[in-house]
Amino acid sequence: MLSVHAPRDPQATPWLAEGDAKRRAVQSMFAEIAGRYDLLNGLMSFNLHRRWRAAAVHAIQPPVGGVAVDVCSGTGDFLAPLRRAVGPKGTVVGLDFCRPMLEGAVGKTEVTGLSVGDACRLPLRDGCADCVTVGWGIRNVPDVDQAHREIARVLRPGGKFVSLDMAVPRNPVVGVGSRLVCRRVLPALGRLFGLSKAYTYLPESTLRFATREALADSMRKAGFVDVHFRDFMMGNICMHWGTKA
Ligand SMILES: C[S@@+](CC[C@H](N)C(=O)[O-])C[C@H]1O[C@@H](n2cnc3c(N)ncnc32)[C@H](O)[C@@H]1O
Repeated sequence: MLSVHAPRDPQATPWLAEGDAKRRAVQSMFAEIAGRYDLLNGLMSFNLHRRWRAAAVHAIQPPVGGVAVDVCSGTGDFLAPLRRAVGPKGTVVGLDFCRPMLEGAVGKTEVTGLSVGDACRLPLRDGCADCVTVGWGIRNVPDVDQAHREIARVLRPGGKFVSLDMAVPRNPVVGVGSRLVCRRVLPALGRLFGLSKAYTYLPESTLRFATREALADSMRKAGFVDVHFRDFMMGNICMHWGTKA
């Protein structure tokens, strides 16, 4: 007997979407949550995200007076540590494909520019940047390899890239606890704030995300050397960094 399945609506289940459907679904999901993103981000990370960002910026050592680009910049929380690192004469640019998220970055930090743009087609010229950061963005792009290639393209040789994102803990006991929090607590918190889809997307997209090793391989294939990764929060967060060859 034939069973007929209704086609899935990518807007309703963005964690199952791929390619352009994922791009559109992710963009509209972030537009929906933009106004409450900072509040929930602080709550869910116990504000530790600031420490992880500081560690990320430390890992890539942006040069004073240099050019720093934050891709998938959202509400711009990577921009302040980047500004501190490059100093007042440096250039700090935030780039995101969701205008309402980027609007949340306006006025937070003294930036050189905030621009709407796609991580898989960066509106920047080859070799223009000394360093690129991405915070919790790579998991959301429709083509991770393409985003890594684009980031490598805009970096000068020797330029540095760092990405922070969710990860699946390697310790099985921690993994059970995390799955419980991710599958029960986060969606409940999301429902409380009327953002149930976004906070179902977070754990579901994390479980489907590339492994640490696959992400490191994708970076090497894109032209990075000295690729490393390091866990935070018992392996729920992972930082990848490398140098453009
Ligand atoms: C979880 S938020 C992180 C925001 C910010 N980087 C931070 O650390 O708080 C992910 C951001 O990535 C952006 N994003 C997702 N896919 C993108 C793409 N293909 N190009 C540009 N931005 C993208 C979303 O619009 C959203 O603002």
